[in-house]
Amino acid sequence: MKKMFFSILMVSFLPLMAQNTPTKITIYADQGKTQINKEIYGQFAEHLGTCIYGGIWVGENSPIPNTNGYRNDVLNALKQLQIPVLRWPGGCFADEYHWMDGIGPKEKRPKMVNNNWGGVVEDNSFGTHEFLNLCEMLGCEPYLSGNVGSGTVEELAKWVEYTTSDGDSPMANLRRQNGREKPWKVKYLGVGNESWGCGGSMTPEYYADLFRRYSTYCREFDGNRLYKIASGASDYDYNWTEVLMKKVGTRMKGISLHYYTVKGWDGSKGSATKFDKADYLWTMGKCLEIEDVVKKHIAIMDKYDPQNRIGLLVDEWGTWWDQEPGTHPGFLFQQNTMRDAFVAALTLNIFNKYSERVKMANIAQVVNVLQAMILTDGPKMVLTPTYYVFDMYKKHMGATYLPLDIQCDELSSNNKMFPSVSASASKDSNGSIHITLANINPDKEQNIEIDLANVKISKVTGTILTAKSIDSYNAFDNPNAVVPAIFKGAKVTKSGLSVMLPAKSIISLELL
Ligand code: AHR
Repeated sequence: MKKMFFSILMVSFLPLMAQNTPTKITIYADQGKTQINKEIYGQFAEHLGTCIYGGIWVGENSPIPNTNGYRNDVLNALKQLQIPVLRWPGGCFADEYHWMDGIGPKEKRPKMVNNNWGGVVEDNSFGTHEFLNLCEMLGCEPYLSGNVGSGTVEELAKWVEYTTSDGDSPMANLRRQNGREKPWKVKYLGVGNESWGCGGSMTPEYYADLFRRYSTYCREFDGNRLYKIASGASDYDYNWTEVLMKKVGTRMKGISLHYYTVKGWDGSKGSATKFDKADYLWTMGKCLEIEDVVKKHIAIMDKYDPQNRIGLLVDEWGTWWDQEPGTHPGFLFQQNTMRDAFVAALTLNIFNKYSERVKMANIAQVVNVLQAMILTDGPKMVLTPTYYVFDMYKKHMGATYLPLDIQCDELSSNNKMFPSVSASASKDSNGSIHITLANINPDKEQNIEIDLANVKISKVTGTILTAKSIDSYNAFDNPNAVVPAIFKGAKVTKSGLSVMLPAKSIISLELL
């Protein structure tokens, strides 16, 4: 892995004493206007490695404790996160998936080769019923990602009919025959995935026409309202967004965006657990770059859709490292350290800020793949530092975003400067304010003065996530190296709060 030049600098070259100048955050607690879409805290589950098989689904006959085939430990952990939406079955897998292979008696379901992910044989034992029933158990919205790359218009149209029609229609009757009387509620429908790449290597112009054609036949049955999502750009491909906005417009309710914190697509992506401070700071810089990317895509959307009718959905994001030594390279199984927790914390703070346009985000992926919430190994399960960030941030879901300003030291990596503190604040329907803060600096604590702009509070409680070092992680034989604890470093002051934020820590505060 190439070593990056890095340094930790002050914004200006002040004498050493001045480095202890308190960080100042002003939260305009009386000026909230936008609701933070709860779907920003969404998840993604692909038929990839052990995400589905082994991670979520073990089958009814497994010795691993399960409910109707879903492993209990993972189910319970996911319920705690109150996940709002789950995207399935891919990813690249979606554009080779034929949903009819995954319904009916399991022993009769045809098998297929999972060409994208390791060439393993997929037996289709986890299909439409298993996924939609899982969403019901988790109380989340399903997000079906349809096959445009290698599927047909008829196939996608029938999937919508099968899952959502309540009438005496052929597909609804087939569903009944397969044991499900009532339709499910399916709101989110992806029309292809990464259509510029694994989803068909298309040009934006060609895909725009296909979107119009495929989506025409995805009907709304019996009161089910579809939120049709176009396969959007990767990272900095602003032309893709421009063409779709121009040629598809409000025929789509949402357009996706994929952004991974990754060193590149060729060669080593770096170890998930073995890295130095330079690598860590590079990761923070790359992760924070998503703000600029999101802003630029939004600017294009604003041009064509000033009324803000089309949502930007970052339906894949997160870190991408080399697979763990000894694991299948096509399975994308990686460990998850305090560094990953920061990527989650910083990114979620950014998504909250752009909630007016960012209607959904789905971290990749929920179990055992890339920046996972949960890792499993046979019967063992461990919760990752990223899981705890989602748990600490969940109070922002559906709350009103509170604008804020931050004055703090900066860090730098590769000649790029970025703030050392990241924050987000929201007010929930009961009037309670929640603040999430991250001190990226691995060596230095921060004294933070928070001004609440005339809003009075009487009490503050908090939770902290930190660890011995930025590369600490939860292993199967050491599952509690990075776990949240009660935070007592925040005090109510005349103008708001004073917070002593330890080095390399993430906190959530509740103000009453
Ligand atoms: O999340 C892993 C893969 O990354 C997805 O299948 C694909 O959409 C993206 O390239």
